[in-house]
Amino acid sequence: MASVVPALLLLLSSVCLARRVEEKHPTIIGLGSSLKPVTEPTLWASPSGRFAFGFYNQGSGFSVGVWLVGKGTSSNRVVWTANRDDPPVASNATLILNEKGELLLTTESGEKKVIANKTDSASSASMLDSGNFVLYNNDGHIIWESFKNPTDTILGGQNLSTYGQLISSLSENNHSTGRFHLIMQGDGNLVLYPSNDAYIPDNAYWSSQTNGIGSFNLYLNSTTGFLQLINNSDLSISRALGVPFFAEGDSDDGKDNSSIVYSARLDVDGNFRLYTHLFDRSGRLQTFPRFRALKNLCRVKGFCGFNSFCTFNDYQPYCVCLPGTDFIDPYQRTLGCTRNYSEAHCKGGKANEGFYNINSMENLVWNADVFYSKEKMSKDECSRTCLEDCNCEAAQFESGVCKKQKLPLKYMLRDPDRDSFSTAFLKVGVRSLEAENNSIPLELIKPTMITIKRKETMVQLLLLTFSLVACSCVLLSISGLFIYKFRVLRYKMLLENGNLGLNEELTLILFSYNELRRATYGFREELGKGSFGAVYKGTLYKGRKSIAVKRLEKLVEEGEREFQAEMRAIGRTHHRNLVRLLGYCAEDSKRLLVYEYMGNGSLADLLFKTTMRPDWNERIRIALDVARGILYLHEECESPIIHCDIKPQNILMDDTWTAKISDFGLAKFLMGDQTRTFTGVRGTRGYMAPEWQKNTPISVKADIYSFGIVLLEIVCCRRNLDTTVSKTEEIILSNWVYRCFVEKELDKLVLGEEVDKKNLEKMVMVALWCIQDEPALRPSIKSVVMMLEGITDISIPPCPSASSM
Ligand SMILES: *[C@@H]1O[C@H](CO)[C@@H](O)[C@H](O)[C@H]1NC(C)=O
Ligand SMILES: *[C@@H]1O[C@H](CO)[C@@H](O)[C@H](O)[C@H]1NC(C)=O
Ligand SMILES: *[C@@H]1O[C@H](CO)[C@@H](O)[C@H](O)[C@H]1NC(C)=O
Ligand SMILES: *[C@@H]1O[C@H](CO)[C@@H](O)[C@H](O)[C@H]1NC(C)=O
Ligand SMILES: *[C@@H]1O[C@H](CO)[C@@H](O)[C@H](O)[C@H]1NC(C)=O
Ligand SMILES: *[C@@H]1O[C@H](CO)[C@@H](O)[C@H](O)[C@H]1NC(C)=O
Ligand SMILES: *[C@@H]1O[C@H](CO)[C@@H](O)[C@H](O)[C@H]1NC(C)=O
Ligand SMILES: *[C@@H]1O[C@H](CO)[C@@H](O)[C@H](O)[C@H]1NC(C)=O
Ligand SMILES: *[C@@H]1O[C@H](CO)[C@@H](O)[C@H](O)[C@H]1NC(C)=O
Repeated sequence: MASVVPALLLLLSSVCLARRVEEKHPTIIGLGSSLKPVTEPTLWASPSGRFAFGFYNQGSGFSVGVWLVGKGTSSNRVVWTANRDDPPVASNATLILNEKGELLLTTESGEKKVIANKTDSASSASMLDSGNFVLYNNDGHIIWESFKNPTDTILGGQNLSTYGQLISSLSENNHSTGRFHLIMQGDGNLVLYPSNDAYIPDNAYWSSQTNGIGSFNLYLNSTTGFLQLINNSDLSISRALGVPFFAEGDSDDGKDNSSIVYSARLDVDGNFRLYTHLFDRSGRLQTFPRFRALKNLCRVKGFCGFNSFCTFNDYQPYCVCLPGTDFIDPYQRTLGCTRNYSEAHCKGGKANEGFYNINSMENLVWNADVFYSKEKMSKDECSRTCLEDCNCEAAQFESGVCKKQKLPLKYMLRDPDRDSFSTAFLKVGVRSLEAENNSIPLELIKPTMITIKRKETMVQLLLLTFSLVACSCVLLSISGLFIYKFRVLRYKMLLENGNLGLNEELTLILFSYNELRRATYGFREELGKGSFGAVYKGTLYKGRKSIAVKRLEKLVEEGEREFQAEMRAIGRTHHRNLVRLLGYCAEDSKRLLVYEYMGNGSLADLLFKTTMRPDWNERIRIALDVARGILYLHEECESPIIHCDIKPQNILMDDTWTAKISDFGLAKFLMGDQTRTFTGVRGTRGYMAPEWQKNTPISVKADIYSFGIVLLEIVCCRRNLDTTVSKTEEIILSNWVYRCFVEKELDKLVLGEEVDKKNLEKMVMVALWCIQDEPALRPSIKSVVMMLEGITDISIPPCPSASSM
């Protein structure tokens, strides 16, 4: 008996010990632990209680997965599902980490399924606070983790390794494999594809445009919420893809950052979005999308199924069947459409007249790469030959070329804003499938015979034929040359641009008006007024990042267009000497642009407002900065941009005194060799090239003129037009400078300054070349940069204005 008591004590104490250990590490899940769908325990929670692993409701049954736990009315958010394509299990299923170290799901029928596929046997498991569910071996090493087997989501701290992929879910309530893939390719490109197609550039609908940079991981930083591509071999090298924004009301009311969880998910609709999840004080879960890969969901290839096209209604994308087709399932409109007319009248060659019509639609785009015939012809011919040709079910006419193809058509999108015009011709049957069975057979239409009766006609015909052949030979060779050139150009462009032109959508962030109002404290601090409206100071990230918000006013009908142009232009530009656009807001009639904040004001402030002149070398550096910015705009970005309003007020200085060109409000694209792209007069007096007043074409040379004036102002630290000077001959700077140049008295310009004479003369000569009245005499910006850098010599400039001197 006496020996029993110590044994009992020992037993008790060991129970207590075990208890204590469990309390200390509440999330260590030992061998033999199990879960049931409805009877407790149904889940294993992370220490903070924010994440849980276990059974969640799916359809009429249960699936095993990891989710963010939302209390109260908010629902959970599933971030991972085990064996996602297996059917949900019934309420008497069991999940067990058995004594052999296997994590097994026993279904209602007794079937055993492996949840974690691993080679080693586990000795424990844990649901971590990061949302990672892990299995450990005896040595305490992680041998399996849900983070390494993602479904559609990555969480803060999670890696999508090279060759890793995310696959969207089928629907919000069905987490099985859906219709879209996100692949972290071995070439460093992060790409979105429709699932049921080849993963080739033609099918991609979005990419990070980082192909060829080597092998990278996609990483979501749990501290900052930044989505980054990280170099595999050097983890310190990364590229930011998306930046989250703090949610409304989150900026200042003292919520600590530990209540935030970040996730990035390939959504059901095919878009890739970054989310911020907030737990408020009562534990409710709020979710805010903060960034998305595509602005326009219609650009998601496969958003609409075969034979239907995507279009917008109240900003909601929806699918519309092509003429002649009906929805496969009217309740699931993204599944696509099938033909609703009979083909019976089109067999063995030509179509029977009267049974088919051709419908035409403008601006319908699709992957027309599976055409069976591609010919040059007129629009009418394209429509007519398609109607007559039994094989033709649709034709795409674009720039004189007719491409014919059979159904199904895929990845169609109706884009009314598209620049290039294409017409789609779609064959439509007049007889429905139902009516078909009662139809009468039809006789074949006999081709009409042409008989040539007279000799003269014969000769004429021969002559005509001959000249036609000769003509078409010439035409063919010319067009061949053009097509070749065009192809080569196209190919080059494809190489340079990667495969998609959608990257701008990635870097720009769409803000709500309220976010920007909050960020600028109700537009309190005005930084200045630009040509399109006032600019306000604001902050993001709880005050960590300063921004400048430009509120576009005076937006009449032209406003929208300017806005779009500006978006497109700036979205594509990235250069050290250009002010970076971070995002914008387009809500109702409100249009706002968000720029990085330039801490040191404008070049105008620096040159004209300060009492101390910036030193000479500093000024040369600034001039080169500006020239390099213009060089990028004119020659290095995708399509040349004429700024049209280069002036010191539009050149801003950042914290390190780097000059950056801002205000692309007037920038437009140069299309092809079209030199005059503007109809109205733009620009600012004093900096405007003389051709603005005349009716001559405006080209990049207009910017060169403005740059020349700015360069003179930089050299002399005074305005081009200054009425406060003592002598009238000095009022107009450009005239005075030329006089000084001719009279070899350039040091008058920089009175009291220690300036290298040669250097000063060089700057002045470059400026004088730039401000030539005759645009053709002005150098290109490339030559300007080379002259300023001292790479090329500068010849003596003639008088800028031939008429005035
Ligand atoms: C999800 O959809 C698939 C395919 O339609 C279906 O087989 C499966 O039963 C669905 N799952 C649930 C939970 O509804
Ligand atoms: C689960 O319940 C179903 C009936 O609802 C029964 O047929 C099946 O045997 C049960 N399975 C287990 C493992 O108890
Ligand atoms: C388990 O992993 C191995 C290789 O790691 C793989 O070959 C096998 O197909 C996987 N099994 C399942 C059920 O996923
Ligand atoms: C991401 O994964 C790679 C390889 O799997 C690993 O070397 C790296 O440390 C991971 N990075 C982070 C931040 O977890
Ligand atoms: C990735 O890191 C390696 C090793 O440091 C380096 O050689 C390579 O240039 C890096 N790639 C990129 C794109 O930065
Ligand atoms: C995440 O961001 C923080 C803050 O910028 C940085 O210190 C940390 O190195 C980042 N983590 C990774 C893995 O890049
Ligand atoms: C949370 O914010 C505090 C200051 O506000 C900072 O010291 C701490 O490092 C942050 N923690 C994380 C995980 O970012
Ligand atoms: C085919 O469907 C379209 C659209 O629903 C309809 O307008 C058309 O009348 C149908 N054609 C036939 C032959 O049923
Ligand atoms: C036409 O008739 C055939 C047999 O007579 C039948 O199989 C087919 O379903 C009918 N088609 C339609 C569209 O009613």
